[in-house]
Order: sequence, then structure tokens, then C-alpha cells
Amino acid sequence: YKKITTKSLIDMKANGEKISMLTAYDFTMAKIVDTAGIDVILVGDSASNVMAGHETTLPITLDQMIYHASSVVRAVDRALVVVDLPFGSYQSDSKEALRSSIRIMKESGGHAVKLEGGREIESSIKKILNAGIPVMGHLGLTPQSIYKFGTYTVRAKEEEEAEQLLEDAKMLERIGCFALVLEKIPAKLAQKVAESISIPVIGIGAGGGVDGQVLVLHDMIGMTHEFSPRFLRRYMNLFEDMTKAIGQYAADVKSKDFPNANEQY
Ligand code: KIV
Ligand code: NA
Repeated sequence: YKKITTKSLIDMKANGEKISMLTAYDFTMAKIVDTAGIDVILVGDSASNVMAGHETTLPITLDQMIYHASSVVRAVDRALVVVDLPFGSYQSDSKEALRSSIRIMKESGGHAVKLEGGREIESSIKKILNAGIPVMGHLGLTPQSIYKFGTYTVRAKEEEEAEQLLEDAKMLERIGCFALVLEKIPAKLAQKVAESISIPVIGIGAGGGVDGQVLVLHDMIGMTHEFSPRFLRRYMNLFEDMTKAIGQYAADVKSKDFPNANEQY
């Protein structure tokens, strides 16, 4: 695939090729992620935590999401760029949801939007899709609802919530979503969902029986170090490596080792 489209992802699922997805919030990181060959870059509202230091995803604004997304889009040649609709930009009614989605598409140049929720936002998703904007769904642990859940533990462990989730996933496929994120649910349920629908299911903490995986970039490269859920695989420990490098630089400045004769004019 020279350039990833929503159609490429659906083809990948049909061909049994797993989909790789990571977050990015800025130009420099997005350039690295795209160069590495990641299929989908998510401008997640996790920027609220990772970039701004908020405890939840709720405070980030639509303007801030557009700023992050436009920076990412400028860096990307191949990946599909999906942008989260932040809390408060789509829940009031379907008109607000469409207006926010149009702003993202026009002002950032992103390729698709992602919204958290199922049946409760069905009419909003339909309206966005009717405008020609591709929509990725997001079910399971939906962090914008953290104050309703009260906890970040695994969702849909009980029969009732699991059945609702499966129905919501089928609805999202029926109305025309091109893909779906499942966050922190039992692997068995996630696999059942993936087998029940033909659009790709991308998991985070949802096991290996789905069609692709997503992680928060700063977590998988170990830039963040306080967040350690079981589903997170750390490929680097950049917090440690960067702290050492920066400490060395500080020491070199203090000791007058930096700059040396070759590092000046
Ligand atoms: O905002 C985000 O990073 C996300 C992923 C965890 C799916 O929504
Ligand atoms: Na998100």
C-alpha cells in the first residue's frame, strides 16, 4: 500500500493482514511514525494527558485537537490520519457533531474522525457519514466517560454489557463506519466482535484475536513511565535514556566540557 485509505484497511482485514496503529500529536513524532510504516496515525485526545498533563481526556478542546492534527498531517505521506472528536464537541446533538467534524476535516486536513460510543451517538455518526466524512467507532473503555465508569478497569466482563457492545459494533458496521477501536475488554469478546463484523477491529488491551493493534506512542517508547497497564508493551525506556542524556548535557555545561573547540565558530 503506497498510501493508506479507509478502503486499504478493509482490504487488509479481508486478506488477514493485521493493521498497525499508533498515536501522534506533533510533526516530529508523526514523521518518525509514518517513516516507520505504521498504517494508521491517531491524533488521540490522549494528547490531553500526554501533551498537556491533564489527569483525564476531558479538558482538551476542539481547537487544540485541530492544532495537533494539522501538525501531524503536515508530516504524513503514507498513513491514514484519524482525529479524535474531543469531549464536548459532539455529545449535544448531531448538528454539533457534524459541525465539529467538518472543522477537523477543513482546518487540520485529517482523513477521518473517531467518536466514543454506540447507540447513544448513532444519529450523530450517521450525519457525519452522510457528509462524506469517514468515521471510526470506539467502544469498551471509553475514557471520556471515566466519571460515569468511576474506574479504568476492564469493561464488558458481564453478559449484559458484552451483549450491548456486540450489538453496538454491528450497528456501527451497518451504518457505515470504516473501522472500530475496542479498548480494554476481554480478549474473547473482542475476538467475537471481530469475527461478527467485516470492518476492521483495532484493539488496545483487547487481545490478539482482533484485526489490528493501537498503542499510545509515548507509552510504547517508554517516554511516560508512571502508566503501566498489563496490555502495554514497552519497546524502549526513553524516560530513562533521555533523563541520562539531558543530565549529561547539564554536567558538561557545568564542567565547561561543552562546547569544545570544534563546537564553536
Ligand atoms: O486517545 C487515544 O489515544 C485513543 C486510543 C487509546 C485508542 O483513543
Ligand atoms: Na481517544
